[in-house]
Amino acid sequence: MIPLLLLPGLLCDARLWQGPIDALSDIAVATVADLTQDDRFEAMADRALAAMPPFFAMAGLSMGGYVAFAILRRQPHRVSRLMLMDTSARPDTDASARRRRALIAISASGRFHGVAPRMLPDLLHPDSLDNERIGQEIVAMATRVGRDAFVRQQTAILHRLDSRPDLASIQVPSWIVVGAGDRITPLPLAQEIAAGIPGSRLEVVAGCGHLPPLEAPQATGALMRRWLTEMPQNPWQTADLT
Ligand code: MLT
Repeated sequence: MIPLLLLPGLLCDARLWQGPIDALSDIAVATVADLTQDDRFEAMADRALAAMPPFFAMAGLSMGGYVAFAILRRQPHRVSRLMLMDTSARPDTDASARRRRALIAISASGRFHGVAPRMLPDLLHPDSLDNERIGQEIVAMATRVGRDAFVRQQTAILHRLDSRPDLASIQVPSWIVVGAGDRITPLPLAQEIAAGIPGSRLEVVAGCGHLPPLEAPQATGALMRRWLTEMPQNPWQTADLT
């Protein structure tokens, strides 16, 4: 079985990955990292690394991708395969940092419960927006993550490094994935990562916005199966993962 580290996005928990986890249960043992405890990505990376065996495959969505970059800066030799989903290698612009600080202020003033519903139109493809179940899942995840962890996560995001200079030195076999309708981290950001990581492959998931594992769990599970079974393992690695 392949050890698989899954890194969720902002305000998401293990529920985000449940569809792919179920779809891959015959080939992978998944660990979903707890990204709620720390306000820096270095600390999130150390916490995630401590929970994993020496070699593992790693997939990160959005903020989870920022953590994946931090893991690759710390212990790249432990990662056998990399999937970066709906994420960006860039730091915040001034405008996005201002929006983030405003959301932190809204939460601090006791209106955290309004944050997730407000984010839905940007998070989801229009077809998923019509799907009440998906909206409810997102609000439920945000409620479980809670206000304090949201502030920690946004603080980490505000402090994140520019990962663009690191891309050329990533030697892990990598797939870059993006929902065709992602409005938060749209296709050009995925193309930029794919162009930067030598030998990486770009996959676009049709009919999805920012959250393919939740919006299209079966298609995402099938894609991750191909990623785990088709691509060569990290050339540095000699252990047999399966
Ligand atoms: C996420 O989904 O993790 C966030 O959209 C990331 C971000 O706000 O930069």
